[in-house]
Order: sequence, then structure tokens, then C-alpha cells
Amino acid sequence: MNSPVVGSESERAVASIFNSAVAAASIGAAWELGALEELRENGKLDVQSFALQNDLDLASTQGMITALAVVGVVERDRDSVVVGRHFDEAYRTKSLFHWLCLGSGELFARMQYVLRNENRTGDFYRRDSAAIGYACRDINTQYFDPAFWAAMDDLDHDLSYVADLGCGSGGRLIQVLRRHPRAKGLGLDLAGPALKVAEKETAELGMSDRLSFAEADARNIGTRAEFAEVDLLTCFMMGHDFWPRENCVATLRRLREAFPNVRRFLLGDATRILLDDPRTEHAVTEDNVPVFTLGFEVGHAMMDVYIPTLAEWEGVFEEGGWRCVNKRLIESLTLSVIFELERA
Ligand SMILES: C[S@@+](CC[C@H](N)C(=O)[O-])C[C@H]1O[C@@H](n2cnc3c(N)ncnc32)[C@H](O)[C@@H]1O
Repeated sequence: MNSPVVGSESERAVASIFNSAVAAASIGAAWELGALEELRENGKLDVQSFALQNDLDLASTQGMITALAVVGVVERDRDSVVVGRHFDEAYRTKSLFHWLCLGSGELFARMQYVLRNENRTGDFYRRDSAAIGYACRDINTQYFDPAFWAAMDDLDHDLSYVADLGCGSGGRLIQVLRRHPRAKGLGLDLAGPALKVAEKETAELGMSDRLSFAEADARNIGTRAEFAEVDLLTCFMMGHDFWPRENCVATLRRLREAFPNVRRFLLGDATRILLDDPRTEHAVTEDNVPVFTLGFEVGHAMMDVYIPTLAEWEGVFEEGGWRCVNKRLIESLTLSVIFELERA
């Protein structure tokens, strides 16, 4: 028997765009609600008991699971759910969906407003900084951590004081201080809500005596007495906020002055490989864009934040007063990199 006609290729493709948008939100939600973890641990999940145990609305939970089934992340027979063919990859990338749909959701939802020049003054967009902090922890675990800890293992001094620029909810500092029980840490960030999360967790872990946080703009850092004690500077997933180039040079110079005893500066970020013809060996074309790249680059264009290419980063350190002694590429997260810098 012939299969029923289900529409033209375009109809199916466009329906799939629509379905993917709903599924994208569902991946982030299923992660935060614990459904992805339960599926990963047990390979299966019962929607009714999951909704009951977690006090979730049953019809909405069934909807979320259906969206995951539509895109092959799970398979289901009514309320009985098992992992689908794309589960492992969706699990690996879950925080990118969370970043897109919750952390940056309002930015993308208001695209037509944000694009109008007449609106692009003052605080013309909003993002959820606590949610971005939540997603970034997992982005670190999945993508940056192996290279980060390898770079930490290569430090040639005993760590005593680490400062993290754009620390978000403080996950990196907590991990570093756990491994270095005698070291102290300072997290600096613009976003009050993310710092509140960081302070709360630090207190719960009993680490407040050696880990503190302060609201500060890393582009205009000023001076503080404790900066002189800092021997390791880290900055992950925010270095692009230093740009454009002239500002980045000035920021790098200011950081060099503000932290006079830093032995190593680990700077990790995603770079531009798609928008505005990046002309690098790592550039991708529109028919082969990996996960995250499009959201990361379009989102930052909307926020008026310049994303440098790898080569542009490499061309700025010397002028900024730093020497790059090593770089570690992370090609699974668009094109990301960790630069290992020393004071020049
Ligand atoms: C994408 S999150 C990364 C958080 C954290 N570094 C991590 O690796 O999980 C970027 C963080 O940088 C902060 N940020 C952005 N621009 C900043 C600036 N100029 N000074 C300080 N923090 C900034 C944001 O508030 C946000 O918490």
C-alpha cells in the first residue's frame, strides 16, 4: 500500500522548523526538570509518575515529551518513554538549547523590535542572567573543562588567589577552590542576579571565608587591594564583551595593570566562523552550520556585541601587553579556544 501523501518537501521542511522551535524549548525544560537525567540513568521514563513526583501539570508534561518525540530525542508509547536515536547528542547539547530558549529567549522573541535602529538605545534587550549562568555551567562541563583542566595542570606555580572575570554563578571558581583547598577566589560580574546565585551556593558549601564576589565591569576594572594577591586570572565566555579591537586592547592593558602579579591568564571563548564573511580556515557555510554557531553569532549581533575570529584574537594580545604561550582549540562548540596568556 502507498503511504499517505504528507505534503511537499517544503511543507515538511517548514513544519520541521516549527516543530524544532518547540522541541528546542522542550530540551532545555526537560533538562532543568530532570527528565533528561532520568532518561539517561534509566533509559526510560513514565510520564504520569514523572509529572506526579515533580508536581508538574500532566498535559503540559505530555506535550513536552511529545515535542521531544517529534524530533527523535525520545520514543514513546503513550506515557511510556524510552531514549530515542538523537538522545545522546541532545543530552550533550542540552545547555545550548537552554541558553537559546530561556537565557536568551526574550532577545530572540523580540527580534523585530531589537533590529529597529530607533529602539537600539539604552537597555534595548533583556536576557535572563541567572538562566545563562545555569546553562554555562553545563557548557563548561561538556565543552571547555577538559581543555581548562589541562591548562590548569600546566600552571608552573602554586595557585594562591584566582580571580574570574564574568564569573556568572561562580561554578568555575568553586571547582578551582575545591581542587586547591588553600587558595582564595574572587568572582567579578556585571550581573547581580547571577552573583546572588553564586553567593548563595558559596555559603551553602561553607566556602564564604575564601570565595567572594563583587559587581564589576571587567572592561573598566579599577583597582582593589586584593587584586595584587591574584596570581591566576580566568575569563570564560565573556571575552568577546571586550571588543571591538581598540576597546579590547585598552581592556587587556587595564587588566595587566590592575592585576600586577598575575602569572597566568586563561581566556576561553567561542569565536566567529559564520557571520560577516570571517575568511578563516574554520569558517562554515550556510549549508553546514553546526549547533550553537547561528544562535551565538546572531544573538550577539542583535546585542551589538562584536564576536572576533580566532585570528583577530591572536592579533590583539601583544598590543594589549600579554604574550600567548599556548592555545587550545575546542572544535565541538562552534570554534572555541582557550588562550594561555602571560604578562608580556
Ligand atoms: C556567558 S556567561 C559566562 C559565565 C561564566 N564565565 C562561565 O564560564 O560559566 C557571561 C558572563 O559574563 C558577564 N559579563 C558580560 N560582560 C561583562 C563585563 N563587561 N564585566 C563583567 N562581567 C560581564 C555576564 O553577566 C555573564 O554572567
